[in-house]
Amino acid sequence: MPHSLLVLNGPNLNLLGTRQPEVYGPTTLKDIETLCQEKAASLGIDVTFLQSNHEGELVDLLHNARGVHAGIILNAGAYTHTSVALMDAISSIMVPVVELHLSNIHAREEFRQKSFIAPVAVGQICGFGAAGYPLAMDAILSYIGEAT
Ligand code: DQA
Repeated sequence: MPHSLLVLNGPNLNLLGTRQPEVYGPTTLKDIETLCQEKAASLGIDVTFLQSNHEGELVDLLHNARGVHAGIILNAGAYTHTSVALMDAISSIMVPVVELHLSNIHAREEFRQKSFIAPVAVGQICGFGAAGYPLAMDAILSYIGEAT
């Protein structure tokens, strides 16, 4: 379990590559999964990479991480800005979460500058596109190392 991370992606991220490439870049979610698997292999850990468009399913997937994964990287997509349910789930599972966004949410519309995830996350990485995912893996592993 200390050697396993969950990378969890929320709504509309399945459309990466064709979805607003001027904002989110040309990289597909499959490309990002490959990036995460390569990073995990180089670190000698396991990574599980999942995506759901459904808020309740994301809650279930967070619950299911208990006792299975040492840390979670969460790109909650638009639910970041709306979901008390995801915030409560993160508060309840005792698994550290790094909040991740491809875009710099602080430089965009005002409604994106509010995050329900940020107060319950270890930290936030945003604005680095797909490269943020391996950065977040380093960040959570460093946090786990310091916290244990
Ligand atoms: C996003 C930013 C969110 O505001 C948006 O709703 C997304 C993607 C990002 O990765 O930049 O779906 O989480």
